[in-house]
Amino acid sequence: SQEQTFLAIKPDAVQRGLIGPIITRFERRGYKLRAIKLIVPDRSLLEKHYDEHKGKPFFEKLVGFMGSGPVCAMVWEGKDVVKTGRAMLGATNPLNSAPGTIRGDYGIDLGRNVCHGSDSVDSAKYEINLWFQPTEIQQYDRAI
Ligand code: CMP
Repeated sequence: SQEQTFLAIKPDAVQRGLIGPIITRFERRGYKLRAIKLIVPDRSLLEKHYDEHKGKPFFEKLVGFMGSGPVCAMVWEGKDVVKTGRAMLGATNPLNSAPGTIRGDYGIDLGRNVCHGSDSVDSAKYEINLWFQPTEIQQYDRAI
């Protein structure tokens, strides 16, 4: 069904000049970019975004890394985009992500894994609401 997902190109990938190639993959797949901004997320935003990882041994490292520079936050829309978006990202750990996926082609390690994507429709709603104001989400027609 038509749905929205939240993607965040992480600081490592922004610094490496990978925003364009990642956006191109989603545009070519026919998805619609509804919102986009560069933002250095503060600790409060990251604690909410990564709430499910609070208390895990890698939490502080994760929050430190994600706040270390600008993140490219986006909302993408399209048919089954949450699930297909995750498939396009590939496995979380670049050691396991297949060539042809974003992490499989660009990932360095488990922390610097290029891009985050929502893991369910519910978490997409939560994350979009956390990172964007309703007025930042644009409505327009696009042809495939
Ligand atoms: P992401 O999709 O942003 O969701 C949670 C993130 O935690 C994940 O990508 C990884 O980048 C990060 N992560 C998971 N496990 C570890 C770990 N053991 N060490 C560092 N980061 C991790």
